[in-house]
Amino acid sequence: MEPKTFYVTTPIYYPSGKFHIGTAYTTVLADTIRKYKKMRGYDTYFLTGLDEHGQKIQEVAQKNGITPQEHVDNMADQAKKLWKLMDISYDDFIRTTEERHTKVVEQIFDKLMEQGDIYKGEYEGWYCVPCETYFTDTQLVEGKCPDCGREVKKMKEEAYFFNMKKYADRLIEFYEENPNFIEPESRKNELFNNFLKPGLEDLCITRTTFDWGVKVKKDPKHVIYVWLDALTNYITALGYGSEDDTKFKKYWPADLQIVGKDIIRFHGIYWPIFLMALDLPLPKKIYAHGFIMMKDGKMSKSKGNVVYPEMLIERYGLDATKYFLMREFSYGQDAVFSPEGFVERFNFDLCNDLGNLLNRTIGMINKYQAGIVKPSMENKSEIDKNLEEFTEKQIQKVEENMDSIHLSNALTEIWNLIARTNKYIDETAPWILAKNEEDSETLNSVLYHLVENLRKIAIMLNPFMQDTSKSIMEQLGIEKEELKKWDSIKEGSTIEEIHVIEKGEPLFMRLDQTEEVEYIKNEMKK
Ligand code: MSP
Repeated sequence: MEPKTFYVTTPIYYPSGKFHIGTAYTTVLADTIRKYKKMRGYDTYFLTGLDEHGQKIQEVAQKNGITPQEHVDNMADQAKKLWKLMDISYDDFIRTTEERHTKVVEQIFDKLMEQGDIYKGEYEGWYCVPCETYFTDTQLVEGKCPDCGREVKKMKEEAYFFNMKKYADRLIEFYEENPNFIEPESRKNELFNNFLKPGLEDLCITRTTFDWGVKVKKDPKHVIYVWLDALTNYITALGYGSEDDTKFKKYWPADLQIVGKDIIRFHGIYWPIFLMALDLPLPKKIYAHGFIMMKDGKMSKSKGNVVYPEMLIERYGLDATKYFLMREFSYGQDAVFSPEGFVERFNFDLCNDLGNLLNRTIGMINKYQAGIVKPSMENKSEIDKNLEEFTEKQIQKVEENMDSIHLSNALTEIWNLIARTNKYIDETAPWILAKNEEDSETLNSVLYHLVENLRKIAIMLNPFMQDTSKSIMEQLGIEKEELKKWDSIKEGSTIEEIHVIEKGEPLFMRLDQTEEVEYIKNEMKK
Protein backbone atom coordinates (compact mmCIF):
# COMPACT_ATOMS: atom_id res chain seq x y z
CA MET A 1 0.00 0.00 0.00
CA GLU A 2 1.23 3.50 -0.82
CA PRO A 3 1.96 5.54 2.33
CA LYS A 4 -0.48 8.33 3.13
CA THR A 5 0.67 11.76 2.02
CA PHE A 6 1.10 14.80 4.25
CA TYR A 7 1.56 18.22 2.68
CA VAL A 8 2.49 21.06 5.05
CA THR A 9 3.21 24.70 4.17
CA THR A 10 4.52 27.84 5.85
CA PRO A 11 3.52 31.30 4.67
CA ILE A 12 5.92 32.69 2.12
CA TYR A 13 7.85 35.44 3.87
CA TYR A 14 8.29 39.02 2.69
CA PRO A 15 12.00 39.44 2.05
CA SER A 16 12.01 43.02 3.28
CA GLY A 17 14.52 42.64 6.11
CA LYS A 18 16.58 40.16 8.06
CA PHE A 19 14.52 37.21 9.34
CA HIS A 20 13.97 37.19 13.10
CA ILE A 21 12.84 34.49 15.53
CA GLY A 22 9.19 35.24 14.70
CA THR A 23 9.67 34.08 11.13
CA ALA A 24 11.86 31.22 12.26
CA TYR A 25 9.12 30.11 14.65
CA THR A 26 6.61 29.34 11.86
CA THR A 27 9.23 27.46 9.88
CA VAL A 28 10.48 25.41 12.84
CA LEU A 29 6.89 24.53 13.74
CA ALA A 30 6.15 23.26 10.24
CA ASP A 31 9.46 21.43 10.05
CA THR A 32 8.94 19.71 13.41
CA ILE A 33 5.49 18.50 12.40
CA ARG A 34 6.87 17.28 9.12
CA LYS A 35 9.68 15.37 10.83
CA TYR A 36 7.16 13.77 13.17
CA LYS A 37 4.82 12.77 10.35
CA LYS A 38 7.73 11.28 8.46
CA MET A 39 8.62 9.17 11.49
CA ARG A 40 4.99 8.02 11.58
CA GLY A 41 5.32 6.67 8.06
CA TYR A 42 3.76 9.46 5.99
CA ASP A 43 5.01 10.47 2.56
CA THR A 44 5.58 14.12 3.49
CA TYR A 45 6.02 17.26 1.42
CA PHE A 46 7.07 20.54 3.00
CA LEU A 47 6.91 23.86 1.17
CA THR A 48 8.27 27.22 2.19
CA GLY A 49 9.51 30.23 0.22
CA LEU A 50 9.40 33.97 -0.34
CA ASP A 51 6.72 36.48 -1.30
CA GLU A 52 8.93 38.67 -3.45
CA HIS A 53 6.61 41.18 -5.11
CA GLY A 54 5.04 44.41 -3.96
CA GLN A 55 5.67 48.03 -3.26
CA LYS A 56 7.56 47.49 -0.03
CA ILE A 57 10.16 45.27 -1.66
CA GLN A 58 10.55 47.77 -4.49
CA GLU A 59 11.17 50.54 -1.95
CA VAL A 60 13.69 48.58 0.12
CA ALA A 61 15.67 47.75 -3.01
CA GLN A 62 15.61 51.39 -4.09
CA LYS A 63 16.87 52.47 -0.69
CA ASN A 64 19.77 50.03 -1.00
CA GLY A 65 20.54 51.23 -4.52
CA ILE A 66 19.93 47.87 -6.16
CA THR A 67 17.22 46.44 -8.39
CA PRO A 68 14.30 44.61 -6.78
CA GLN A 69 15.48 41.42 -8.45
CA GLU A 70 18.98 41.80 -6.97
CA HIS A 71 17.44 42.47 -3.59
CA VAL A 72 15.19 39.40 -3.59
CA ASP A 73 18.03 37.23 -4.91
CA ASN A 74 20.17 38.27 -1.93
CA MET A 75 17.32 37.68 0.46
CA ALA A 76 16.56 34.25 -0.98
CA ASP A 77 20.20 33.30 -0.36
CA GLN A 78 19.91 34.56 3.21
CA ALA A 79 16.70 32.62 3.84
CA LYS A 80 18.15 29.40 2.45
CA LYS A 81 21.30 29.86 4.53
CA LEU A 82 19.24 30.37 7.67
CA TRP A 83 17.08 27.30 7.03
CA LYS A 84 20.22 25.26 6.44
CA LEU A 85 21.68 26.48 9.71
CA MET A 86 18.42 25.52 11.41
CA ASP A 87 18.34 22.09 9.79
CA ILE A 88 15.00 22.82 8.14
CA SER A 89 14.39 20.13 5.57
CA TYR A 90 11.96 21.65 3.10
CA ASP A 91 11.19 19.85 -0.14
CA ASP A 92 10.71 22.98 -2.18
CA PHE A 93 11.43 26.68 -1.82
CA ILE A 94 9.11 28.75 -3.98
CA ARG A 95 9.86 32.32 -4.98
CA THR A 96 7.01 34.31 -6.46
CA THR A 97 9.34 35.88 -9.04
CA GLU A 98 10.05 32.48 -10.60
CA GLU A 99 8.55 31.85 -14.00
CA ARG A 100 6.94 28.61 -12.85
CA HIS A 101 4.85 30.78 -10.54
CA THR A 102 4.27 34.01 -12.51
CA LYS A 103 3.10 32.16 -15.64
CA VAL A 104 0.43 30.34 -13.70
CA VAL A 105 -0.68 33.49 -11.82
CA GLU A 106 -1.28 35.14 -15.21
CA GLN A 107 -3.30 32.14 -16.34
CA ILE A 108 -5.33 32.08 -13.14
CA PHE A 109 -6.13 35.80 -13.49
CA ASP A 110 -7.30 35.29 -17.08
CA LYS A 111 -9.40 32.28 -16.17
CA LEU A 112 -11.11 34.07 -13.28
CA MET A 113 -11.72 37.08 -15.51
CA GLU A 114 -13.23 34.92 -18.27
CA GLN A 115 -15.59 33.20 -15.88
CA GLY A 116 -16.76 36.54 -14.50
CA ASP A 117 -15.25 36.34 -11.02
CA ILE A 118 -13.01 39.33 -11.67
CA TYR A 119 -14.38 42.67 -12.86
CA LYS A 120 -12.95 46.11 -13.49
CA GLY A 121 -14.05 48.88 -11.15
CA GLU A 122 -12.75 51.79 -9.17
CA TYR A 123 -10.73 51.60 -6.02
CA GLU A 124 -11.25 54.42 -3.60
CA GLY A 125 -9.22 55.03 -0.50
CA TRP A 126 -7.00 57.39 1.44
CA TYR A 127 -3.79 57.85 -0.49
CA CYS A 128 -0.49 58.96 0.99
CA VAL A 129 1.48 60.52 -1.85
CA PRO A 130 5.02 60.22 -0.39
CA CYS A 131 4.38 56.61 0.67
CA GLU A 132 2.45 55.86 -2.54
CA THR A 133 0.06 53.74 -0.51
CA TYR A 134 -3.69 53.50 -0.04
CA PHE A 135 -5.20 53.12 3.39
CA THR A 136 -8.70 52.36 4.58
CA ASP A 137 -10.55 54.51 7.12
CA THR A 138 -9.64 52.16 9.94
CA GLN A 139 -5.96 52.03 9.05
CA LEU A 140 -5.45 55.79 9.41
CA VAL A 141 -3.96 57.07 12.64
CA GLU A 142 -5.78 60.24 13.72
CA GLY A 143 -6.74 60.78 10.10
CA LYS A 144 -3.09 60.70 8.94
CA CYS A 145 -0.86 58.17 7.21
CA PRO A 146 -0.07 55.34 9.68
CA ASP A 147 3.45 54.99 8.22
CA CYS A 148 4.77 58.55 7.94
CA GLY A 149 2.13 60.58 9.79
CA ARG A 150 1.55 62.97 6.88
CA GLU A 151 -1.71 64.17 5.32
CA VAL A 152 -3.62 61.70 3.14
CA LYS A 153 -5.90 62.43 0.16
CA LYS A 154 -9.10 60.68 -0.89
CA MET A 155 -8.27 59.21 -4.30
CA LYS A 156 -9.73 56.87 -6.84
CA GLU A 157 -8.06 54.61 -9.35
CA GLU A 158 -9.15 52.04 -11.84
CA ALA A 159 -8.67 48.54 -10.48
CA TYR A 160 -9.75 44.94 -10.80
CA PHE A 161 -11.89 43.34 -8.12
CA PHE A 162 -12.65 39.79 -7.15
CA ASN A 163 -16.30 39.03 -6.57
CA MET A 164 -16.09 37.63 -3.06
CA LYS A 165 -19.82 37.99 -2.41
CA LYS A 166 -20.57 35.31 -4.97
CA TYR A 167 -18.81 32.67 -2.86
CA ALA A 168 -19.60 33.85 0.67
CA ASP A 169 -22.51 31.45 1.26
CA ARG A 170 -20.53 28.50 0.00
CA LEU A 171 -17.72 29.37 2.37
CA ILE A 172 -20.10 29.67 5.32
CA GLU A 173 -21.48 26.24 4.44
CA PHE A 174 -17.95 24.86 4.23
CA TYR A 175 -17.13 26.22 7.69
CA GLU A 176 -20.25 24.55 9.06
CA GLU A 177 -19.51 21.21 7.45
CA ASN A 178 -15.83 21.27 8.42
CA PRO A 179 -15.68 22.56 11.97
CA ASN A 180 -11.94 21.87 12.25
CA PHE A 181 -10.97 23.67 9.05
CA ILE A 182 -9.58 26.64 10.96
CA GLU A 183 -7.88 26.24 14.30
CA PRO A 184 -7.85 27.38 17.02
CA GLU A 185 -11.63 27.67 17.09
CA SER A 186 -11.46 31.19 18.50
CA ARG A 187 -9.81 32.37 15.26
CA LYS A 188 -12.51 30.73 13.17
CA ASN A 189 -15.19 32.44 15.24
CA GLU A 190 -13.45 35.78 14.76
CA LEU A 191 -13.44 35.34 10.98
CA PHE A 192 -17.02 34.21 10.97
CA ASN A 193 -18.39 36.96 13.21
CA ASN A 194 -16.26 39.87 11.98
CA PHE A 195 -16.10 39.20 8.25
CA LEU A 196 -18.44 36.50 6.99
CA LYS A 197 -21.57 37.31 8.98
CA PRO A 198 -21.61 41.07 8.28
CA GLY A 199 -21.10 40.29 4.55
CA LEU A 200 -17.90 40.11 2.55
CA GLU A 201 -16.57 43.07 0.60
CA ASP A 202 -15.22 42.40 -2.87
CA LEU A 203 -11.44 42.35 -2.87
CA CYS A 204 -9.31 44.74 -4.90
CA ILE A 205 -6.68 42.55 -6.53
CA THR A 206 -4.66 44.97 -8.68
CA ARG A 207 -2.72 48.18 -8.24
CA THR A 208 -1.31 50.77 -10.60
CA THR A 209 0.84 52.55 -8.01
CA PHE A 210 3.86 50.27 -8.37
CA ASP A 211 5.09 47.87 -10.99
CA TRP A 212 7.14 45.24 -9.14
CA GLY A 213 4.79 42.33 -9.60
CA VAL A 214 2.94 40.09 -12.05
CA LYS A 215 1.26 42.26 -14.66
CA VAL A 216 -2.25 41.66 -15.95
CA LYS A 217 -1.44 40.35 -19.40
CA LYS A 218 -4.19 42.15 -21.28
CA ASP A 219 -3.93 45.36 -19.27
CA PRO A 220 -0.29 45.64 -18.17
CA LYS A 221 -0.50 48.94 -16.33
CA HIS A 222 -2.19 46.86 -13.62
CA VAL A 223 -0.08 44.75 -11.31
CA ILE A 224 -1.68 41.83 -9.54
CA TYR A 225 -1.79 42.76 -5.90
CA VAL A 226 0.24 40.57 -3.65
CA TRP A 227 -2.40 38.34 -2.05
CA LEU A 228 -3.73 36.69 -5.21
CA ASP A 229 -0.14 36.34 -6.35
CA ALA A 230 1.11 35.11 -2.96
CA LEU A 231 -1.61 32.67 -1.95
CA THR A 232 -1.43 30.71 -5.17
CA ASN A 233 2.18 29.74 -4.39
CA TYR A 234 0.83 26.75 -2.47
CA ILE A 235 -0.40 25.21 -5.71
CA THR A 236 1.99 26.61 -8.32
CA ALA A 237 4.88 25.07 -6.37
CA LEU A 238 3.27 21.67 -6.90
CA GLY A 239 3.03 22.26 -10.63
CA TYR A 240 -0.65 23.24 -10.82
CA GLY A 241 -1.36 24.68 -14.27
CA SER A 242 1.95 23.44 -15.68
CA GLU A 243 2.80 20.53 -17.94
CA ASP A 244 3.93 18.36 -15.06
CA ASP A 245 1.34 18.41 -12.32
CA THR A 246 2.17 15.02 -10.76
CA LYS A 247 3.04 16.56 -7.42
CA PHE A 248 -0.15 18.60 -7.45
CA LYS A 249 -2.20 15.47 -8.04
CA LYS A 250 -0.32 13.63 -5.35
CA TYR A 251 -0.22 16.21 -2.54
CA TRP A 252 -3.09 18.66 -3.01
CA PRO A 253 -5.18 19.42 -0.95
CA ALA A 254 -2.69 20.43 1.73
CA ASP A 255 -3.07 18.66 5.04
CA LEU A 256 -1.85 21.57 7.11
CA GLN A 257 -1.23 25.22 6.28
CA ILE A 258 0.47 27.07 9.11
CA VAL A 259 0.12 30.84 9.34
CA GLY A 260 0.49 33.57 11.94
CA LYS A 261 -2.67 35.06 13.44
CA ASP A 262 -2.13 38.29 11.48
CA ILE A 263 -2.71 36.60 8.14
CA ILE A 264 -5.48 34.16 9.04
CA ARG A 265 -8.06 36.36 7.29
CA PHE A 266 -6.30 35.93 3.97
CA HIS A 267 -5.93 32.19 4.45
CA GLY A 268 -9.29 31.50 6.04
CA ILE A 269 -11.44 33.59 3.68
CA TYR A 270 -9.77 34.70 0.44
CA TRP A 271 -7.68 31.60 -0.12
CA PRO A 272 -10.60 29.11 0.12
CA ILE A 273 -12.68 31.38 -2.11
CA PHE A 274 -9.96 31.56 -4.77
CA LEU A 275 -9.77 27.77 -4.65
CA MET A 276 -13.55 27.44 -4.98
CA ALA A 277 -13.44 29.71 -8.01
CA LEU A 278 -10.75 27.49 -9.50
CA ASP A 279 -12.89 24.48 -8.68
CA LEU A 280 -10.16 22.97 -6.52
CA PRO A 281 -10.45 21.18 -3.17
CA LEU A 282 -9.79 23.24 -0.04
CA PRO A 283 -6.92 22.56 2.38
CA LYS A 284 -7.78 20.22 5.23
CA LYS A 285 -6.59 22.50 7.97
CA ILE A 286 -5.38 26.03 8.48
CA TYR A 287 -3.70 26.61 11.79
CA ALA A 288 -3.01 30.09 13.11
CA HIS A 289 -0.27 30.45 15.70
CA GLY A 290 0.32 33.37 18.04
CA PHE A 291 3.08 35.93 18.03
CA ILE A 292 6.46 36.02 19.74
CA MET A 293 6.33 39.18 21.77
CA MET A 294 8.88 41.02 23.84
CA LYS A 295 8.29 42.34 27.33
CA ASP A 296 7.84 45.79 25.81
CA GLY A 297 5.53 44.70 23.00
CA LYS A 298 6.23 43.77 19.41
CA MET A 299 9.76 43.16 18.16
CA SER A 300 11.07 46.18 16.33
CA LYS A 301 14.44 47.49 15.25
CA SER A 302 13.70 50.94 16.62
CA LYS A 303 12.99 49.54 20.08
CA GLY A 304 16.22 47.53 19.96
CA ASN A 305 14.47 44.34 20.99
CA VAL A 306 14.80 42.11 17.93
CA VAL A 307 16.12 38.59 18.45
CA TYR A 308 17.76 36.85 15.52
CA PRO A 309 18.00 33.07 15.51
CA GLU A 310 21.67 33.09 14.43
CA MET A 311 22.73 34.73 17.69
CA LEU A 312 20.96 32.14 19.85
CA ILE A 313 22.19 29.23 17.74
CA GLU A 314 25.81 30.38 17.76
CA ARG A 315 25.94 30.77 21.51
CA TYR A 316 23.51 28.11 22.79
CA GLY A 317 23.20 25.65 19.93
CA LEU A 318 20.43 24.80 17.51
CA ASP A 319 18.60 22.34 19.72
CA ALA A 320 18.29 24.70 22.67
CA THR A 321 16.99 27.43 20.36
CA LYS A 322 14.41 25.18 18.76
CA TYR A 323 13.43 23.73 22.13
CA PHE A 324 12.71 27.19 23.48
CA LEU A 325 10.62 28.17 20.46
CA MET A 326 8.55 25.00 20.51
CA ARG A 327 8.12 24.86 24.28
CA GLU A 328 7.24 28.44 25.07
CA PHE A 329 4.17 28.74 22.84
CA SER A 330 0.83 27.37 24.02
CA TYR A 331 -1.63 26.38 21.34
CA GLY A 332 -2.49 29.42 19.24
CA GLN A 333 -1.37 31.85 21.95
CA ASP A 334 1.25 34.59 21.98
CA ALA A 335 4.44 33.95 23.92
CA VAL A 336 6.92 36.32 25.44
CA PHE A 337 10.60 35.97 24.72
CA SER A 338 12.73 37.01 27.64
CA PRO A 339 16.46 36.40 28.08
CA GLU A 340 15.73 35.22 31.64
CA GLY A 341 13.14 32.72 30.39
CA PHE A 342 15.51 31.42 27.76
CA VAL A 343 18.38 30.83 30.21
CA GLU A 344 16.06 29.27 32.78
CA ARG A 345 14.66 26.78 30.30
CA PHE A 346 18.19 25.96 29.22
CA ASN A 347 19.43 25.35 32.75
CA PHE A 348 16.38 23.68 34.26
CA ASP A 349 14.87 21.67 31.45
CA LEU A 350 17.87 20.81 29.32
CA CYS A 351 20.78 20.64 31.79
CA ASN A 352 19.07 19.56 34.99
CA ASP A 353 16.18 17.37 33.91
CA LEU A 354 17.28 15.81 30.64
CA GLY A 355 21.06 16.16 30.88
CA ASN A 356 21.23 14.76 34.41
CA LEU A 357 18.99 11.82 33.65
CA LEU A 358 21.32 10.71 30.88
CA ASN A 359 24.45 11.46 32.86
CA ARG A 360 23.36 9.66 35.99
CA THR A 361 22.25 6.64 33.97
CA ILE A 362 25.48 6.33 31.99
CA GLY A 363 27.54 6.92 35.15
CA MET A 364 25.75 4.18 37.10
CA ILE A 365 25.92 1.65 34.26
CA ASN A 366 29.67 2.20 34.05
CA LYS A 367 30.21 2.16 37.75
CA TYR A 368 28.06 -0.82 38.70
CA GLN A 369 27.97 -3.03 35.58
CA ALA A 370 31.13 -2.19 33.62
CA GLY A 371 29.06 -0.31 31.02
CA ILE A 372 26.79 -3.25 30.16
CA VAL A 373 23.00 -3.60 30.44
CA LYS A 374 21.13 -6.81 29.62
CA PRO A 375 17.48 -7.06 28.61
CA SER A 376 15.33 -7.68 31.62
CA MET A 377 11.69 -8.57 31.40
CA GLU A 378 11.21 -10.81 34.41
CA ASN A 379 10.96 -10.17 38.13
CA LYS A 380 9.41 -6.77 37.69
CA SER A 381 8.78 -4.90 40.90
CA GLU A 382 5.74 -2.75 41.55
CA ILE A 383 7.91 0.32 41.01
CA ASP A 384 8.97 -1.01 37.59
CA LYS A 385 5.38 -1.74 36.58
CA ASN A 386 4.30 1.65 37.75
CA LEU A 387 7.01 3.32 35.63
CA GLU A 388 6.09 1.24 32.58
CA GLU A 389 2.42 2.15 32.88
CA PHE A 390 3.24 5.81 33.30
CA THR A 391 5.53 5.71 30.26
CA GLU A 392 2.86 4.08 28.13
CA LYS A 393 0.37 6.79 29.05
CA GLN A 394 2.87 9.55 28.34
CA ILE A 395 3.61 8.15 24.87
CA GLN A 396 -0.07 8.20 24.10
CA LYS A 397 -0.38 11.79 25.31
CA VAL A 398 2.62 12.88 23.26
CA GLU A 399 1.13 11.33 20.12
CA GLU A 400 -2.25 12.95 20.70
CA ASN A 401 -0.64 16.34 21.20
CA MET A 402 1.62 15.99 18.18
CA ASP A 403 -1.32 14.96 16.00
CA SER A 404 -3.36 17.97 17.09
CA ILE A 405 -0.46 20.46 16.70
CA HIS A 406 -0.17 21.04 20.46
CA LEU A 407 3.60 20.83 20.24
CA SER A 408 4.29 22.69 23.45
CA ASN A 409 2.03 20.27 25.35
CA ALA A 410 3.80 17.34 23.71
CA LEU A 411 7.10 18.66 25.08
CA THR A 412 5.54 19.16 28.51
CA GLU A 413 4.45 15.50 28.50
CA ILE A 414 7.94 14.39 27.45
CA TRP A 415 9.35 16.43 30.33
CA ASN A 416 6.83 14.85 32.71
CA LEU A 417 8.24 11.50 31.65
CA ILE A 418 11.79 12.75 32.20
CA ALA A 419 10.83 13.90 35.71
CA ARG A 420 9.10 10.58 36.46
CA THR A 421 12.16 8.66 35.26
CA ASN A 422 14.45 10.79 37.42
CA LYS A 423 12.16 10.02 40.35
CA TYR A 424 12.44 6.31 39.55
CA ILE A 425 16.17 6.53 40.22
CA ASP A 426 15.48 7.91 43.68
CA GLU A 427 12.78 5.29 44.34
CA THR A 428 14.98 2.34 43.35
CA ALA A 429 18.26 3.70 44.81
CA PRO A 430 20.66 1.76 42.55
CA TRP A 431 23.61 2.79 44.76
CA ILE A 432 22.15 0.63 47.55
CA LEU A 433 21.32 -2.27 45.21
CA ALA A 434 24.93 -2.19 44.00
CA LYS A 435 26.17 -3.07 47.48
CA ASN A 436 24.58 -6.54 47.58
CA GLU A 437 25.46 -9.33 45.21
CA GLU A 438 21.94 -10.86 45.53
CA ASP A 439 20.41 -7.63 44.18
CA SER A 440 22.37 -7.74 40.94
CA GLU A 441 19.36 -8.87 38.85
CA THR A 442 17.23 -6.10 40.32
CA LEU A 443 19.99 -3.59 39.67
CA ASN A 444 20.23 -4.65 36.02
CA SER A 445 16.45 -4.36 35.73
CA VAL A 446 16.52 -0.80 37.08
CA LEU A 447 19.29 0.23 34.70
CA TYR A 448 17.49 -1.49 31.85
CA HIS A 449 14.32 0.49 32.58
CA LEU A 450 16.35 3.70 32.59
CA VAL A 451 17.94 2.89 29.24
CA GLU A 452 14.58 1.98 27.72
CA ASN A 453 12.98 5.22 28.91
CA LEU A 454 15.87 7.32 27.69
CA ARG A 455 15.64 5.59 24.32
CA LYS A 456 11.91 6.37 24.13
CA ILE A 457 12.53 9.96 25.20
CA ALA A 458 15.21 10.31 22.50
CA ILE A 459 12.80 9.05 19.84
CA MET A 460 10.02 11.41 20.88
CA LEU A 461 12.49 14.30 20.97
CA ASN A 462 13.79 13.50 17.52
CA PRO A 463 11.40 15.74 15.54
CA PHE A 464 12.32 18.64 17.85
CA MET A 465 16.02 18.14 18.55
CA GLN A 466 17.75 15.78 16.19
CA ASP A 467 21.31 16.21 17.46
CA THR A 468 20.30 15.70 21.07
CA SER A 469 18.29 12.64 20.15
CA LYS A 470 21.24 11.23 18.21
CA SER A 471 23.64 11.97 21.02
CA ILE A 472 21.45 10.17 23.59
CA MET A 473 21.33 7.10 21.34
CA GLU A 474 25.10 7.18 20.79
CA GLN A 475 25.88 7.52 24.47
CA LEU A 476 23.54 4.63 25.26
CA GLY A 477 25.25 2.55 22.59
CA ILE A 478 22.02 1.95 20.67
CA GLU A 479 22.90 1.44 17.05
CA LYS A 480 20.15 -0.60 15.43
CA GLU A 481 17.92 1.54 13.22
CA GLU A 482 14.91 -0.50 14.31
CA LEU A 483 15.39 0.80 17.83
CA LYS A 484 15.28 4.41 16.70
CA LYS A 485 11.91 4.20 14.97
CA TRP A 486 8.76 5.73 16.41
CA ASP A 487 6.82 2.47 16.40
CA SER A 488 9.48 0.81 18.55
CA ILE A 489 8.48 2.93 21.55
CA LYS A 490 5.15 1.17 21.73
CA GLU A 491 6.50 -2.35 21.58
CA GLY A 492 7.57 -4.29 24.67
CA SER A 493 11.25 -5.00 25.27
CA THR A 494 13.33 -4.41 22.23
CA ILE A 495 16.93 -3.80 23.23
CA GLU A 496 19.52 -6.54 23.32
CA GLU A 497 22.66 -6.35 25.44
CA ILE A 498 24.04 -2.84 25.11
CA HIS A 499 27.37 -1.22 25.94
CA VAL A 500 27.11 2.40 26.91
CA ILE A 501 29.79 4.98 26.22
CA GLU A 502 32.64 4.86 28.78
CA LYS A 503 32.47 8.47 29.78
CA GLY A 504 29.19 10.33 29.31
CA GLU A 505 29.27 13.67 27.54
CA PRO A 506 27.08 16.44 28.97
CA LEU A 507 24.27 17.20 26.51
CA PHE A 508 24.15 20.84 27.64
CA MET A 509 26.59 22.86 29.77
CA ARG A 510 25.02 24.86 32.56
CA LEU A 511 24.88 28.61 31.92
CA ASP A 512 25.66 31.46 34.28
CA GLN A 513 22.26 33.13 34.53
CA THR A 514 23.40 36.73 35.09
CA GLU A 515 26.15 36.64 32.49
CA GLU A 516 23.99 35.12 29.78
CA VAL A 517 20.98 37.35 30.38
CA GLU A 518 23.32 40.30 29.99
CA TYR A 519 24.80 38.79 26.83
CA ILE A 520 21.40 38.31 25.15
CA LYS A 521 20.25 41.79 26.14
CA ASN A 522 23.35 43.33 24.59
CA GLU A 523 22.95 41.33 21.41
CA MET A 524 19.35 42.48 21.08
CA LYS A 525 20.49 46.10 21.06
CA LYS A 526 22.93 45.59 18.20
N1 MSP B 1 4.06 37.44 2.72
C1 MSP B 1 3.03 37.30 3.68
C2 MSP B 1 2.51 35.88 3.71
C3 MSP B 1 2.00 35.36 2.41
S1 MSP B 1 1.53 33.70 2.51
C4 MSP B 1 0.75 33.38 1.10
C5 MSP B 1 3.53 37.68 5.06
N2 MSP B 1 4.83 37.68 5.24
S2 MSP B 1 5.58 38.10 6.60
O1 MSP B 1 6.98 37.92 6.32
O2 MSP B 1 5.17 39.40 6.99
O3 MSP B 1 5.11 37.14 7.71
C6 MSP B 1 5.28 35.77 7.55
C7 MSP B 1 4.87 34.98 8.77
O4 MSP B 1 5.68 35.30 9.88
C8 MSP B 1 3.43 35.25 9.19
O5 MSP B 1 2.79 34.00 9.47
C9 MSP B 1 3.58 36.04 10.45
O6 MSP B 1 2.51 35.81 11.30
C10 MSP B 1 4.87 35.45 11.01
N3 MSP B 1 5.47 36.33 11.98
C11 MSP B 1 6.01 37.57 11.79
N4 MSP B 1 6.39 38.07 13.00
C12 MSP B 1 6.09 37.18 13.97
C13 MSP B 1 6.31 37.11 15.35
N5 MSP B 1 6.86 38.09 16.05
N6 MSP B 1 5.94 35.96 15.98
C14 MSP B 1 5.43 34.88 15.31
N7 MSP B 1 5.22 34.94 14.02
C15 MSP B 1 5.45 36.08 13.34
O7 MSP B 1 2.72 37.97 5.91
